[in-house]
Amino acid sequence: MINFPNCNILSTDQFACADIAQLFTAAAVVKPYAKREQQTNVLQGAILSNLFFEPSTRTRLSFSSAFKLLGGAVNETTEISTTSSVKGESLCDFAKVVAEYCDIAVIRHPDAGSAAKYAECSNVPVINAGDGANEHPTQALLDIYTMEQELAKYDKTIDGVTLACIGDLKYGRTVHSLLKLLALFEDVTIHLISPMSLQLPKQFTEKLSERGHRLEYFNRLEPGIENVDVLYVTRIQEERLSEVDQNNLQLASFQINRTIYEQVCTPETVILHPLPRNSRSDTPELHTDLNDHPNLAIFRQVANGLTVRMALFALIMDVVEQISHTTY
Ligand code: CP
Repeated sequence: MINFPNCNILSTDQFACADIAQLFTAAAVVKPYAKREQQTNVLQGAILSNLFFEPSTRTRLSFSSAFKLLGGAVNETTEISTTSSVKGESLCDFAKVVAEYCDIAVIRHPDAGSAAKYAECSNVPVINAGDGANEHPTQALLDIYTMEQELAKYDKTIDGVTLACIGDLKYGRTVHSLLKLLALFEDVTIHLISPMSLQLPKQFTEKLSERGHRLEYFNRLEPGIENVDVLYVTRIQEERLSEVDQNNLQLASFQINRTIYEQVCTPETVILHPLPRNSRSDTPELHTDLNDHPNLAIFRQVANGLTVRMALFALIMDVVEQISHTTY
């Protein structure tokens, strides 16, 4: 179990069911503040260092907004080229320096394992906002939070769920973190649907297998999405593929669009995507013709990301109990 005050969040391996429950209880406390129905200055005087060495819209801005909505201030670093890393400073020295200027750090970095390496040298808590093709734990937490709410609309729970993960399961770090969390639930069935070259690495299925959950692999879309409760669609991580790899992919056959959804899925199938979706491609993985479908929960995921990240800050900074006393 996690002892949240001052802890690092580096991997979903750290979480037990009770931790998720504690996080979601804190999410209920901060939700009115995320929705701007109430205001708090509970983190007044505290500073977040928001360190992004890879592109981001949702994760960076939501962490930043989350800290500010709790009354804190934020230092932003969005380009590795503007830091002294380009002068040869090690990640460890960088972490020691940044810790002198803040109370907590969020880091996204292109190298797998970098957040853990950074945390070893940091004197303040560290949250992994994506480390290469490894993990993206806070995305998985908000995905689980969203999944619970969306399934509840159809009187379903995550226990007993059948979920199809579609797309780049090799480099897609959100899937890696999500599968470890899903392993904590009961009676889960996972369909893994990807081109052969982008299959899920074995280490991310270990927890699911250990706990007796069902895993099935598909290299065609239709049989994998038939009658599932949730579609978890992911972008091909072009930035991590060679040009040859990209040219060999037949992405059209993995696209979720209204026709295939209505032909193969049930009227209750929830559609999730961590975003961004690729709108440059001729065959985007999630077509915009589903934009007005009530089961498309992708922008509710975005909104939930703010609430879940506020809850995480409140737990790590140990201020959940003080929020109601600092409302103005
Ligand atoms: N889902 C996600 O990590 O989005 P960003 O890359 O925009 O942060």
